[in-house]
Amino acid sequence: MSASLATVSYIGATILFILSLGGLSNQESSRRGNLFGMIGMTIAVIATIFGPQVGAAGIPWIIGAMVVGGAIGLYAARTVQMTQMPELVALMHSMVGLAAMLVGFATFIDPEAAKEFTGAAKSIHEMEIYIGILIGAITFSGSIIAFGKLSGRIGGNPMLLPGRHWMNLAGLLVVIYFGGVFLQSHNIAEAMTPVIVMTAIALLFGIHMVMAIGGADMPVVVSMLNSYSGWAAAATGFMLSNDLLIVIGALVGSSGAILSYIMCNAMNRSFISVIAGGFGTTSASPKPAGGAAQPAGEVVPVNASEAAELLRDAKSVIIVPGYGMAVAQAQHTVFEITKVLREKGVKVRFGIHPVAGRMPGHMNVLLAEARVPYDIVFEMDELNDDFPTTDVAIVIGANDIVNPAAQDDPTSPIAGMPVLEVWKAKTSIVMKRSMASGYAGVDNPLFYKENNRMLFGDAKKMLDEVLTVLKA
Ligand code: TAP
Repeated sequence: MSASLATVSYIGATILFILSLGGLSNQESSRRGNLFGMIGMTIAVIATIFGPQVGAAGIPWIIGAMVVGGAIGLYAARTVQMTQMPELVALMHSMVGLAAMLVGFATFIDPEAAKEFTGAAKSIHEMEIYIGILIGAITFSGSIIAFGKLSGRIGGNPMLLPGRHWMNLAGLLVVIYFGGVFLQSHNIAEAMTPVIVMTAIALLFGIHMVMAIGGADMPVVVSMLNSYSGWAAAATGFMLSNDLLIVIGALVGSSGAILSYIMCNAMNRSFISVIAGGFGTTSASPKPAGGAAQPAGEVVPVNASEAAELLRDAKSVIIVPGYGMAVAQAQHTVFEITKVLREKGVKVRFGIHPVAGRMPGHMNVLLAEARVPYDIVFEMDELNDDFPTTDVAIVIGANDIVNPAAQDDPTSPIAGMPVLEVWKAKTSIVMKRSMASGYAGVDNPLFYKENNRMLFGDAKKMLDEVLTVLKA
């Protein structure tokens, strides 16, 4: 393939990726967005393999790697559960970081690559390598820790080392100092020590950054690592002199940064404090995630028929899904119940919290899979004022996102986080298996409110029972 045809293909792929991102911003157009992305990626891969940067000798290697990578990807896509999706995404981010790091080292030790540049161009190229390895290493180790936290292999509590901000600052100064040493080195052997020291610090920083983040703040980390993985890809593009990778990396990096900003707003955190790493710390220390909530009064349990009765008598119902709905895979039954209620003339709407579940858009994906119409699915801000005029708010496997302590208790680890005010409805029904706390590990006073009812059990099983009663 000639260089000009490769460039035209790259421009075409770039346009398709931009259209893809635009499509993914809306549920109705998301399928089209995915399709654009897939076509763009196919064009990009073909143009790269057959383009001027890859010699014939490299093609069997690339095809071999694609077969191995494709087989692993296919296996993962077929076997991974919907609830494991966030950790899979975190693992994929770590791969982008690892790739950037390895490409950085490979470019650094390649004597041919070094000969291509002289003077200022050489310094710029070396800076690209240094920064590329730095971002790659942070993304790699940070994403591995995020994977551990999201999959429950590492505890959700923040690890707050004394003087951690000073440690980070010292690390940054050392990295800048060794950057200078690296640029002034005369050969690969001399430059090796600064690169290795910087890589070690970057890996430690990635671990420290994510370990220091408390349970409920994980959404911000997930979207920040998403952004970092984009910048790592862009850095790889600079090292390989591949324009498409630079553009795509920048697109992912900036869209991830915008998502982080949206997540910060959703969690009521300031963006600056997040960038500075000053988040995840609260005056109260959260209890271990999944631990039992402290008793704070009496709870009123109901059975499935009583819950069905409350729903049948209601004129308006708001359904608030959370992580437990994903675990129970109850979305299809939820939609069946919605259909029955709507046929009976009940106004049914869904309220989606921006950080419900374990990844951005988690609930929207599940509801779309169950074919819930988009026009009855609302964001938190769109219907939070409607709870006082709602008869029943039914909470399906959600906990932190409906916790009134976020508003009432300034010492709570989730203080200030906007929540869905389900307790303002005439009656709220919370469906969960026990009195255990949610991801943030904090007690939920909602359970003890006078107008709240608890429907204990697996969400799918209980909703099946509710549906049977409603249909009877
Ligand atoms: P959580 O606060 O984690 O609460 C989920 C509840 O579902 C649990 O209390 C659990 O109680 C219940 N549950 C689990 N399995 C169930 C089942 N099979 N049937 C019925 N109930 C079940 O979830 P949430 O309210 O959706 O809030 C999300 C939390 O995750 C926030 O703290 C958020 O910050 C964090 N987080 C979000 C993200 C993103 S990007 N969305 C990423 C990382 C972390 P039982 O054990 O008693 O059943």
